[in-house]
Amino acid sequence: MAYFLLSRQRIILVLLTVCFFFLWKSQVALQYSSFPSRTKGPLDSQQILNPHSPSKSDGQSPWARIPQRYPVRSMIPMPSPVPNAIPTIQHRFERESSEARAVRIARLNAVKGNFTHAWSGYKAHAWLRDEVKPLSGQAHDPFGGWAATLVDALDTLWIMGLKDEFERAVEAVAKLDFGSCTMDEVSVFETNIRYLGGLLSAYDLTGGKYAPLLQKAVELGQMLYVAFDTPNRMPITRWNFAAALNGGQQKTQETVLVADLGSLTLEFTRLSQITKDPRYFDAVQRIMDVFGEQQPRTKIPGLWPVVVNVKKLDFTSYAGFTLGGMADSLYEYLLKEHILLGGGTQRYQELYQHAMEAIKRHMLYRPMTDGGEDILFSGSIWADSKTPLSQLDIDAEAQHLACFLGGMVAIGAKIFNKDEELEIARKLVHGCIWAYETNRQGIMPEVMHTVPCDDQTNCPWNSTKWFEAVDRASPQDSRAAVLKIKEKNLPPGISGIDDTRYILRPEAIESIFILYRITGNPSLPDKAWRMFNAIIKSTITDIGHAALEDCTIPNPPKADRMESFWLAETLKYFYLMFSEPDVISLDEYVLNTEGHPLKRSV
Ligand SMILES: *[C@@H]1O[C@H](CO)[C@@H](O)[C@H](O)[C@H]1NC(C)=O
Ligand SMILES: *[C@@H]1O[C@H](CO)[C@@H](O)[C@H](O)[C@H]1NC(C)=O
Repeated sequence: MAYFLLSRQRIILVLLTVCFFFLWKSQVALQYSSFPSRTKGPLDSQQILNPHSPSKSDGQSPWARIPQRYPVRSMIPMPSPVPNAIPTIQHRFERESSEARAVRIARLNAVKGNFTHAWSGYKAHAWLRDEVKPLSGQAHDPFGGWAATLVDALDTLWIMGLKDEFERAVEAVAKLDFGSCTMDEVSVFETNIRYLGGLLSAYDLTGGKYAPLLQKAVELGQMLYVAFDTPNRMPITRWNFAAALNGGQQKTQETVLVADLGSLTLEFTRLSQITKDPRYFDAVQRIMDVFGEQQPRTKIPGLWPVVVNVKKLDFTSYAGFTLGGMADSLYEYLLKEHILLGGGTQRYQELYQHAMEAIKRHMLYRPMTDGGEDILFSGSIWADSKTPLSQLDIDAEAQHLACFLGGMVAIGAKIFNKDEELEIARKLVHGCIWAYETNRQGIMPEVMHTVPCDDQTNCPWNSTKWFEAVDRASPQDSRAAVLKIKEKNLPPGISGIDDTRYILRPEAIESIFILYRITGNPSLPDKAWRMFNAIIKSTITDIGHAALEDCTIPNPPKADRMESFWLAETLKYFYLMFSEPDVISLDEYVLNTEGHPLKRSV
């Protein structure tokens, strides 16, 4: 009887948690889906598509002339880099044997061949458009219509030695018109990481030889700077392009995702470093000052909730925490801004290390696997104020997006000299490798759930426990769970697959690449190669490579979408995995969250 009661309480608890989670997630989704209508512009889309852009007549961006209603009175100065403040990141690789070299070069060429395949498909079917659809061959413009795939792929073209293609693309960049837009509402975050990051990276890689790259980056910087013209200087992250271009009054948003708000520093800082125009650094430093000031006061001190209120400057109230989508690159950029600034201030190191302490204490868990792998994932937490922090249950999620974490923790461990964090990084990277290998098509889906271990150090396989997690409704009856496992094709240790898609995402190979450059572990290239083959086999089309609707079943059904990050990130990271270690050395470059290498000043 006592057991029965206990288990009933547990079910109720689990149900409640699940309800809270869904409530939280749907709330976020709701707030999101309501943005477009709220901020719909006064211009109709025809006018937006065909504006009489002044940039055509006088060669200057229309954005440069829009006066600021809330100008900054005194600029925050950019800290000067401190020589040798950042220790060496990369492993010292030994000379390879000629056999190893031959294997590596063959892999490198296969990656390059697949890049060229997809690039040709884009050129043939969608030149100057944002994306090619890899099944139908149609073009579409979900990122403003400024040739997102082309701009995002510039640096990869250069890294792969496709110089003629690169130069043709630069000519096209010179003609981009940032005075018009295919959308009413622009994501400042996406525009920043894909376009501004892409242009700055191509500029840095080519040593400033191609003037249009910087010219267009500056135009874009001037454009995005207008989104910061609000009473409290917090940017509008979902931004009404046409209204802003008309010089309209801009209102600060209320609810904003922290990844949107906190992933602007690298590109803006690099733009200030190159142009010596302090406005861009000043603009993003103001945001990070607010993050910094409120970091100790959130419901999980050290971390920030997924959603913050920028109008009230309240970054503490919300209760949902994750390191996955909607938050991810906020944390990544703390560390990388420290590197880009050459350790010129302690602020970013402090922010990062406080976050890391909370991550280690609250966000990581070991999943139970039938092979007993000692690996880690980061989960999500709903921090209601009633439960003490130490007793909060982790939601044992494993998001593909969160796979960036292993790479971030590895770089942090290296530059702050923390061996125990390098071990955590290794376990996180191997968590994502396990997720790829354990799924039957060799690819990790967008979101799944696993079974968290009760004891981090001793976690034997227990199928009863797995069945219970698969079918929470009737934990006493394993038959229901067995049926569900069969029906959903669940591999051992996976208790559910929340989102079966694979949309050509890069985070897993990104972290494998970083861990390899840091440790030189020779088993990693083989694992990367297996991942590459699995992905190519399932995604390739006549035109390029396609996202998968369901990567967990044989012959995964494809979706008609090839995101620009496939060429910008995923194939670049696979290429760098098999390149010589001095190609985009992590001691010379810091890569933005779209895989764009930015030159470090020291
Ligand atoms: C694409 O990659 C596969 C390996 O998965 C390789 O066999 C194939 O040759 C590559 N395609 C090209 C055009 O290089
Ligand atoms: C396996 O898990 C079940 C359910 O959580 C538990 O009752 C049982 O004691 C576990 N078995 C072992 C050998 O630990």
